[in-house]
Amino acid sequence: MIGCGFMGRAHSNAYRKVGNFFDLEHECVLQAACARNKRNVTAFAAQWGYASVETDWRQLLARDDIDLVDICVPNDLHAVIATAAAKAGKMILCEKPLAMNGSQGRQMVAAVEKARVPNMVWYNYRRLPAVTLAKQLIDEGKLGRIFHYRAKFLQDWTISPELPQGGTGLWRLDVKAAGSGVTGDLLAHCIDTALWLNGRIEKVSAMTETFIKTRKHNLTGKLAKVGIDDACAFLARFGNGSLATFESTRYARGHKALYTFEINGEHASIFWDLHDLHRLQYFDHRDPSNVRGWRNIHVSDSDQPYLKHWWVPGLQIGYEHSFVHQVADFLKGLETGQPAGPTFRDALETQFVCDAVLKSAKTQKWEKVAK
Ligand SMILES: NC(=O)c1ccc[n+]([C@@H]2O[C@H](COP(=O)([O-])OP(=O)(O)OC[C@H]3O[C@@H](n4cnc5c(N)ncnc54)[C@H](O)[C@@H]3O)[C@@H](O)[C@H]2O)c1
Repeated sequence: MIGCGFMGRAHSNAYRKVGNFFDLEHECVLQAACARNKRNVTAFAAQWGYASVETDWRQLLARDDIDLVDICVPNDLHAVIATAAAKAGKMILCEKPLAMNGSQGRQMVAAVEKARVPNMVWYNYRRLPAVTLAKQLIDEGKLGRIFHYRAKFLQDWTISPELPQGGTGLWRLDVKAAGSGVTGDLLAHCIDTALWLNGRIEKVSAMTETFIKTRKHNLTGKLAKVGIDDACAFLARFGNGSLATFESTRYARGHKALYTFEINGEHASIFWDLHDLHRLQYFDHRDPSNVRGWRNIHVSDSDQPYLKHWWVPGLQIGYEHSFVHQVADFLKGLETGQPAGPTFRDALETQFVCDAVLKSAKTQKWEKVAK
């Protein structure tokens, strides 16, 4: 485990739980945790049950008792660590977004494919049962031809101009560490889900804004320019002919993590909301007209995705379980030789969409998404 912050905790929890709820050939052994500060990483290792600590990720990669590394550090470190880990022959689970940009992402894909190491990126929302159910309904053809895809991810935690940039958690506001703002941090999730559910995005037209232009930098103590996009909205055309709108901001007062998507097809529509993550709203026009209406499906039954591994029907699970499911699917992929996605190659597609969005916001033109 490299990084002991928010995701370090979420993933450690998943490694500890997965073997209790899923029957798998492989077992997760928490061999070492790595972060720069010895005191912090030692406390983290004790809390989560890691057998040893490192303060330099290069030392971790040099160890032959490590089979897999999990990259849970800020975005600017993903490429250098993943590339070195691939060379060292380690399996890699890397946090999203894959890279700072598409060209860096391409190099990472080349590195893991050359080394032939199993790899995956933590776009975990795919593995919330209600979202996986949406995928199943679409793949079964229940929606028919898709006309519209509508996604947003709204937060409100950066409105104060007093909030500094840089350092744990706040590296997200520092473009050098994050690569971009809400586009790579939040819209990347929306884009990954959209590509998975609705196929390739061909072109985009975007606008971005940085509402607070300077913030104190935590690492220097000085006022510094803010280089990230605070808000982004874009239009998109999918390869299947459907039209889309995407919006993300950290300035939507009252919203903490309002990730929603709605998909409208010729026969049916689907709506999902992260704040109510165990529910899927479904409208099917083929229902008899006297009972036709939006169904509010409580996704908690044993024949719905992943749920037979948990409690009894009617009892819901939550956010943390998406990470457990992702580890379970990764390990199953090792058993079956059918790698679970999103692999680095899959995640590169999201990176290309992010690149096109940021480019379009600059050029003020429609931009094609690279292949
Ligand atoms: N999948 C998701 O839903 C999701 C949610 C949050 C964050 N993320 C991603 O996870 C990654 C980490 O985000 P976070 O929220 O956990 O950040 P965080 O700030 O909470 O934690 C980052 C950790 O990295 C450590 N770190 C920084 N530089 C390091 C270095 N050189 N060597 C070792 N450790 C180092 C920090 O000390 C800290 O422990 C980011 O890429 C982010 O985009 C994904």
